[in-house]
Amino acid sequence: MTIWRIDPTSDDFMVHEGFRRAVDAILAGDLVAVPTETVYGLAADATNAEACARIYAAKGRPRFNPLISHLPDMEAALRIGVFDARAQALADAFWPGPMTLVVPRRPGAPVCDLATAGLDTIALRVPDAPIMQALARESGRPLAAPSANRSGRISPTTAQAVNEDLGERVPVILDAGLTRVGVESTIVALLEGEARLLRPGGIAREDLERVLGRPLAAPAAASADTPAGPGMLKSHYAPRARVRLEADDIAPGEAYLGFGPVPDAIARKASIARTLSEKGDVEEAAARLFSDLRALDATGVASIAVAPIPKTGLGEAINDRLGRAAADRTGPGARED
Ligand code: TXA
Ligand code: MG
Repeated sequence: MTIWRIDPTSDDFMVHEGFRRAVDAILAGDLVAVPTETVYGLAADATNAEACARIYAAKGRPRFNPLISHLPDMEAALRIGVFDARAQALADAFWPGPMTLVVPRRPGAPVCDLATAGLDTIALRVPDAPIMQALARESGRPLAAPSANRSGRISPTTAQAVNEDLGERVPVILDAGLTRVGVESTIVALLEGEARLLRPGGIAREDLERVLGRPLAAPAAASADTPAGPGMLKSHYAPRARVRLEADDIAPGEAYLGFGPVPDAIARKASIARTLSEKGDVEEAAARLFSDLRALDATGVASIAVAPIPKTGLGEAINDRLGRAAADRTGPGARED
C-alpha cells in the first residue's frame, strides 16, 4: 500500500502520480481509498463485480449491503437512475454535495448486481470533493464506495485512520487531510410514495424539506428486498470504549467529549476532556466527530461520556451516529459496515 498526499486545491493534481495510479487501479478492478467531502471512501469500479466483491472482502462486511455509486455529474447520474421531479429538485439544490438519492435503477444501467445487492433501485451521489469527482470522471466509471473502515469501526475522516483499519488491504490510499463534513451523506429515497429519509447526514433534514416543500417520511419497515435503511443496524460506528450519551458529569476514569466549552467541574475531574466545538457549532462538531472519537478511543479509556448535542441541523446526524456508537454490540446483526 502507498499513501499519496494530494492537494485538491492545486489545478494539476490530476497529473500527480498518485492520482494516475488511482485511475489505473480503478480500471484494473482494484480498490482505492479516496477522500470525499464526508468521509474517506473505499472505491471500486461499480460496473465490475469482482472489484465490488473486493470491497466487501476488505471491509469484512458480513453480508452484501447495497453500495452508493458516485458519479462525476448529473448527466452521468441520469444514465443510471430515473429521476422524478422531486429527485431532480433535490439534485439541482444539493449536488454536487453530501446527499445520496435512492431512485429506480434505469434498465440496462451499467452497474453490477453486487453494487446494488440485486435491487431494482440504486443509491447515487455526485460528490463535491474534487479528487473523488475527478476519479469518477477520469476513470469513466461509476464508483461504488462505502466508508473506508473495517466493518463495525468508526468511519475514517483522515488517511491515517484508513491506513490503521485497511492499510494492508488497499493498494492505493489518496490523502487530502481531514474531510470537510465529517459525517456520511444524507440518504433520501425517492421511489413510489413519499420521499423518505433513510439516513441523516451531511445535508440537514430542514434544508431538504424546504426544497421538497413537505416533511420527509421515516424509512419504511425493512423487508426482504428493502434493506433496513443504510447502516441501520444498531451497532455501527463503534469505538472499543463504551460510549455514554447525554452526560452532564463524568465517572472516575471516564473520558469526556463535550459540545461547547468543557465545564470546569468536568475539566478538573476528567483524565482526558475535549470538545467537538468550543463555540457550540454543529457543523464543526460533525466535522470532528469521528476523528475525536477515534482519538479518545486510542488512549485506551474504558468509557467515553458525551455531552448532549442539539438535535437540529447536522445535529441529527451526529446524534444518530452517537446512538449507534453507544448501542449494544452483542446479538444478531449487531455489527455492520
Ligand atoms: O458519505 C457517504 O455516503 C460515504 C462516502 C464514501 O460517499 N459512503 C457511505 O457508504 O456512507 P456506505 O456503504 O457506508 O452507506 C451506504 C448505505 C448502505 O448502508 C446501504 O444500505 C444504503 O446506502 N443503500 C445503498 N443502496 C440502497 C438502496 N438501493 N436502497 C436503500 N438503501 C441503499
Ligand atoms: Mg459506513
